Amino acid sequence: KRPAGAPDRNLARPVSAVGIVGAGLMASQLALLFARRLEVPVIISDLDQERVDRGLGYVRGEIDKLLAKKRISPDKANRLRALVTGTIDRAAYAECDFVIEAVFEELEVKRGVFAELEKHVSPECVLATNTSSLSVTQMAAELVHPERVVGFHFFNPVAVLPLLEVVRGERTDEATLATALFVAKELRKNAVLVHDAPAFVVNRLLTRLMGEVTSAVDEGTPIEVADTALRPLGLPMTPFALLQLVGPAVALHVAETLHDAFGDRFAVSPNLQALVAAKRPGIYDRTPEGRPYVSEETRALFT
Ligand code: 3HC
Repeated sequence: KRPAGAPDRNLARPVSAVGIVGAGLMASQLALLFARRLEVPVIISDLDQERVDRGLGYVRGEIDKLLAKKRISPDKANRLRALVTGTIDRAAYAECDFVIEAVFEELEVKRGVFAELEKHVSPECVLATNTSSLSVTQMAAELVHPERVVGFHFFNPVAVLPLLEVVRGERTDEATLATALFVAKELRKNAVLVHDAPAFVVNRLLTRLMGEVTSAVDEGTPIEVADTALRPLGLPMTPFALLQLVGPAVALHVAETLHDAFGDRFAVSPNLQALVAAKRPGIYDRTPEGRPYVSEETRALFT
């Protein structure tokens, strides 16, 4: 089913090569997904070769897992290994018709990436951003072709969750949007077309949920009780397990963006700030057997 407000699908341009800027966990998940579903060459890049190699290592590891589970054939695994390549040279994106960035969540960093990409790609190449909360319109504002910028916001784990927020910036044109929706369909994602607002739709709701769970702890509810109280509602993960999956730094960034935009409707939790400052991976550590527990250090931070 096409999302409400979708443009004419005949405007979509073909995509025969994809670029992913970044080689972190999100970028690597995207590289595998695009190669697997579109079966086109996918290039990842990062600031240095070590990060690129780490990204490629993740992709190869996931291909091996898919093969071991018989989700893909040995032939497909070989094709995927050949399709995903890495570089530190952005000029390698010259032939791409769809490039998505998944770099650090900082407006100026993302603007810089797009400005540099414009020097190498054709004017029709779609520039997509996987930002969690930043303005797609602002990201495009200084470009020669702002109409080719679109938000393409995935959810973790990318391979499993079907949702994709496709964000229309103020200047995004119909051909860009049609191409983005065509790509979403090829990726077998359920695209929802959302307008450019801080944290779009889903992260606003999740941040509100996280904020309330955190305040319950602030007010004296034990961590484990606050975290598991919603379990009977059938959520696939408890709120603090989700925080761990997303990463406290990303969650804090989204909360700060929302606080800047909407004030007290979105409080920035001092506990979340403390977790990030202490570089903790989340609320839970793991015993040698892999069982999650809250360490005394975390409990002391999270007061
Ligand atoms: N990468 C790839 N595959 C993964 C994975 C990962 N990180 N994590 C789990 N999977 C796969 C497993 O391999 C398994 O596949 P299989 O059926 O082929 O074996 C399948 O997912 C199910 O995994 P499990 O059986 O281990 O566990 P669950 O059934 O509990 O599912 C879950 C795990 C899919 C993570 C589920 O708990 C879930 O949906 N959680 C909610 C996640 C969520 O809400 N994400 C949104 C975060 S917000 C966000 O990302 C936005 C950003 O901007 C902040």
